[in-house]
Amino acid sequence: MSINPLVSIKDLKIEVRVTRAKRLSIVDSASFEIESGKIIGLIGESGSGKTMLCRSLVGTLDRRGAYIAAGQLIFDGIDLIAAKQSVWNEIRGKRIGYVPQSALAGPNPVMTIGAQLAEAILQDENFPKSDVEKRSLELLNIVQIRRPETVLKQYQHELSGGMKQRVMIACAIAQQPELIVADEPTTGLDVTVQAEIMELLKQIRKDFNTSIILVSHDLPLINEICDDIVVMHAGTTVEKIPSKLIKTSKHPYTIALYNSRIDLVEPKGQLKTINGQPPSVGNWPAGCRFSERCDFVKDKCRVKQDLPLIEIGSNHQTSCLRYDEIAR
Ligand SMILES: Nc1ncnc2c1ncn2[C@@H]1O[C@H](COP(=O)(O)OP(=O)(O)OP(=O)(O)O)[C@@H](O)[C@H]1O
Ligand SMILES: [Mg+2]
Repeated sequence: MSINPLVSIKDLKIEVRVTRAKRLSIVDSASFEIESGKIIGLIGESGSGKTMLCRSLVGTLDRRGAYIAAGQLIFDGIDLIAAKQSVWNEIRGKRIGYVPQSALAGPNPVMTIGAQLAEAILQDENFPKSDVEKRSLELLNIVQIRRPETVLKQYQHELSGGMKQRVMIACAIAQQPELIVADEPTTGLDVTVQAEIMELLKQIRKDFNTSIILVSHDLPLINEICDDIVVMHAGTTVEKIPSKLIKTSKHPYTIALYNSRIDLVEPKGQLKTINGQPPSVGNWPAGCRFSERCDFVKDKCRVKQDLPLIEIGSNHQTSCLRYDEIAR
């Protein structure tokens, strides 16, 4: 654990209100830290709670009827769970930039790109209006958009997927945030554009020492760009591992995800998949939530118990009870 991480998430629980009386736990136990200037990859199957975790960092859970039920969420020493609206106004979009999962739907369809960027820039009430256009062009240059003067006058339907994503990133960095939360910024883009967006995020980190949380299903891509990888499964963080050590993972779920990488398939070979279906929210098995699908399962894994992350190496934590018995 680092002494002064930029973000510290500990035993975070997120619930949704299903009816007046019924609550559903969506994220049940998330714990990890992010140091300044680090890129953290957040991976896990669909429904594992990645977007909810991202939303907790920008204080927009309530827009999905969700809330933080327990745990800790600290950003640069600020308790985000206790944060009042006035505190959020200084953090959301300013110190923490957000590229939402639906970003490919694009920026606002009825606003020009220029108007959209102006809105992001003028979140800083003291920013001189006369400098907005200059700053907008500067931002479009940072995200490597060609012909920025033309793009400022365009609407999102006139842009390609990759350009839309660059505009969303430009909006997210308008206030030079210390953290960018990018929820699947490359899903739906072709591979070349994906690689370009990843390069862009890397460059932003290099130039501004920005920390980045990057959500993706693309393990090879995540592995290449991220310093550390946080693996989520069924509402829990099950492993945190430096990306260069991914092959030495000590959690069967990470191993299964790694083995199902499409780039590992031999020509004419078969893609390996993970057995069974992920447990559905609210129907999580007792004990280890991966136990039903795990190749290494033992009876002790199925016993009802908490499975906190255990430190097993430098910057390497796993929640697997059998981490020291796993042999591939
Ligand atoms: N308002 C809600 N009411 C009930 N369940 C919800 C609500 N919002 C989200 N969920 C459920 O919470 C779980 C976690 O959702 P989340 O969007 O965080 O998943 P995710 O890991 O981002 O998935 P994906 O990879 O598909 O984006 C999902 O099973 C989802 O169906
Ligand atoms: Mg999501």
